Amino acid sequence: GRVAVLMGGTAAEREISLISGAAVFQALKKQGLDVEAIDVTGSAIDALTGVKADRVFNIIHGRGGEDGVLQGVLETMRLPYTGSGVLASALSMDKLRTKLCWHGLGLPTPKWFLLKSENDAQACIEKLGLPLIVKPALEGSSIGMSKANSLTELIEAYRLAVQYRCDVYAEAWVSGNEYTIAVLDGEALPVIRLETPNVFYDFEAKYRADTTRYHCPCGLDAETEQRLQALAVSACEALAVKGWARVDAFIDNSGQTQLIEVNTVPGMTDHSLVPMAAKQAGISFEELVWRILETSYG
Ligand code: DAL
Ligand code: MG
Repeated sequence: GRVAVLMGGTAAEREISLISGAAVFQALKKQGLDVEAIDVTGSAIDALTGVKADRVFNIIHGRGGEDGVLQGVLETMRLPYTGSGVLASALSMDKLRTKLCWHGLGLPTPKWFLLKSENDAQACIEKLGLPLIVKPALEGSSIGMSKANSLTELIEAYRLAVQYRCDVYAEAWVSGNEYTIAVLDGEALPVIRLETPNVFYDFEAKYRADTTRYHCPCGLDAETEQRLQALAVSACEALAVKGWARVDAFIDNSGQTQLIEVNTVPGMTDHSLVPMAAKQAGISFEELVWRILETSYG
């Protein structure tokens, strides 16, 4: 049957998705599949109308593609699709509710504070101290995020984040090493360590900078790496994640692991991390795409 690769979308990560989508499309085509590329520029229902596909490879990042909304449409159309279902997608897109789930299960995640308005800034600092990182709960690729070292900066950070029209929260700043763990069909791939000269691993460091360093193998001893991998798998299970995902985490300077977020439609560009981890495990890009597609069965 035919596979429709859904890409683009209308969220802030549209351009990233188009790059991811082109790579996925090529990989499926190379393997002889009947594949159709669909750039979703408005309503996903309109984009899917008349499409003769038996299954969907969803590579739309961010709101409208990664957050359960599209997954609900695909369920309703009875079209099998890659990745997480409605609930896991919605929970994972919302980084704040993600933390609530983890916290409830005793999985480690940095302390946080929901900022309902800039008047909460003082109380937030009293609870968490400084510095902080301020995030819109529903964005990806670090869009709208900033570090705050003072009350004034916290208010500025809040004003920036709230423009993304969703909950805004502050998280205790973690000093330590940053890692990401790809999970494919319930199993973790080799861990990657990220290193950036920027204040944090922001949009620029993710897609533009040539100063970002990726370490895979990650440099951890085997036991610590396995612990991180097991934690990533638990982090996904907590949210009912399916198929594939990428878990972002830190090991702080006291050696404590801290879960940050889960991406249920991770980037698949040539800078992207899941392909890098797969390669370290001896899985080519083509094979990776194939295996993700396979998880849409059953
Ligand atoms: N949100 C981007 C696409 C990622 O996690 O790779
Ligand atoms: Mg994300």
